[in-house]
Amino acid sequence: MISALIDLKRAGDDGLVAQLTSQLRGLIATGRLGKGRALPSSRRLASDLGVSRNTVTYAFEQLAAEGYLAASHGRRPVVTVDGGERRQGADAVAARVRSGKLRLSPWASQLKQTDWPMSYQVPLRPLRPGLGDAREFPNEIWARCLRRSAVRAAKRELGPVNRTRLREALAHYLAASRGVRATPEQIMILPSAQAALTLIAAVLISPGDEVWVEDPGYPGAAAALRASGAHVIGMRLDAQGMQRMPGLAAPKLIFMTPSHQHPTGRLMSLARRTEFLGVCRPGKSWIAEDDYDGEFHYDSRPVPALQGLDAHGRVFYVGTFSKVMTSDIRLGYLVVPPALVSTFEIAQRHIGLIASSHIQEALAEFIAGGHFLAHLRRMRRLYHARRDHLVAGLELHLGEMLSIEVPAGGIQLVARLKRGTADRAAVKRLAAAGVETRALSGLALDRPRDHGLLLGFAAWHENEISAALRTMASCF
Ligand SMILES: Cc1ncc(COP(=O)(O)O)c(C=O)c1O
Repeated sequence: MISALIDLKRAGDDGLVAQLTSQLRGLIATGRLGKGRALPSSRRLASDLGVSRNTVTYAFEQLAAEGYLAASHGRRPVVTVDGGERRQGADAVAARVRSGKLRLSPWASQLKQTDWPMSYQVPLRPLRPGLGDAREFPNEIWARCLRRSAVRAAKRELGPVNRTRLREALAHYLAASRGVRATPEQIMILPSAQAALTLIAAVLISPGDEVWVEDPGYPGAAAALRASGAHVIGMRLDAQGMQRMPGLAAPKLIFMTPSHQHPTGRLMSLARRTEFLGVCRPGKSWIAEDDYDGEFHYDSRPVPALQGLDAHGRVFYVGTFSKVMTSDIRLGYLVVPPALVSTFEIAQRHIGLIASSHIQEALAEFIAGGHFLAHLRRMRRLYHARRDHLVAGLELHLGEMLSIEVPAGGIQLVARLKRGTADRAAVKRLAAAGVETRALSGLALDRPRDHGLLLGFAAWHENEISAALRTMASCF
């Protein structure tokens, strides 16, 4: 009996018609109700299910409109789709994908070679790195900005895709706080920093082009560049940040995080910045500077962005609102060298990396109202205290096992294992005990040399950090 295959929830979010339609569709699509099978009359099915006849009639009409049933007046509806055949087809495709026989594009095949993005456990747990504290975000104020943006939408002119008000506000903010030299027209508003990296790779990289990255470094950058066919070469770090490997000719692109090296938090010295700029002949080699959390500095005045040192238009400057606001807002930006602005604007439209105008206008409002800087100042104080709390606790409880590199800013720190290399095992053990960390060895480009834990402090209250430290002490 068909009614035995159907389970309708009276108090669900979906209405009865939607539930019945979806369940009947599922039974047909999976072949459980085969082609040619006559369904009961609407009166009969309604009485078996204990629902109104209209509910069943509407469901039948919808499925007839979708082509699953043939219904004619006064007759029982008949299934017109061979679900079994469809399922076999879908199973065959899934088997090809699983066995690796399905030919994907070279770009998509490259994506599978990396383990980025890494999957984290849900829910979020201390001390997951890479996050600002979304709980501190002024949602009420943001909601007002969103509302104003929506209300004004009718009066806005169509386009441009990179909203002028936000570009102007950002150009001003980046000049004042990060020393970035850019006109508003050089700023592209994108859904994320990752989108900026993808766009740079799409425009600049031809298969086989050499690209230098930091090692250990940010896997998202290496993944985007490799997927475009770049030959990605890792540069080791020392106390001054990324080091140039001797003997290599200038690459097409150098990716770096000079403000707080990801993951170590090291600041690149001025001498190194000048050296890398010197490697890049204008128009031949480029630098992508990722300033993902440059806003957060605690111990000294912030060092201006490398982009501001460049007088020849060789540096792309990448930023994100994921850390400084919340990752939900999903906005990033890219400052493009003047000579490439129109090329990048066309590329942005082709790839479709366009951020919602509503959100862009709301953010412009948030910045113009002084809320962005106020939030930033408050978070800087808070994260500073949290960094100090984590550092003090690590030294007190885990100083024998871990050596800490205290970053002058940012949202996370590296604690190296003093003995052994089993950082992945430590991450697993800690995760089982409720503390989320990331293995430093997982951030190596090729063969890991560094072993330790990446620990986030910005997103976690001091009592959460203390509890995590106690758990860590008992696990080690
Ligand atoms: C160095 C670095 N750049 C960029 C990002 C990502 O920014 P978005 O979420 O805007 O892509 C991250 C995220 O963790 C990061 O660590």
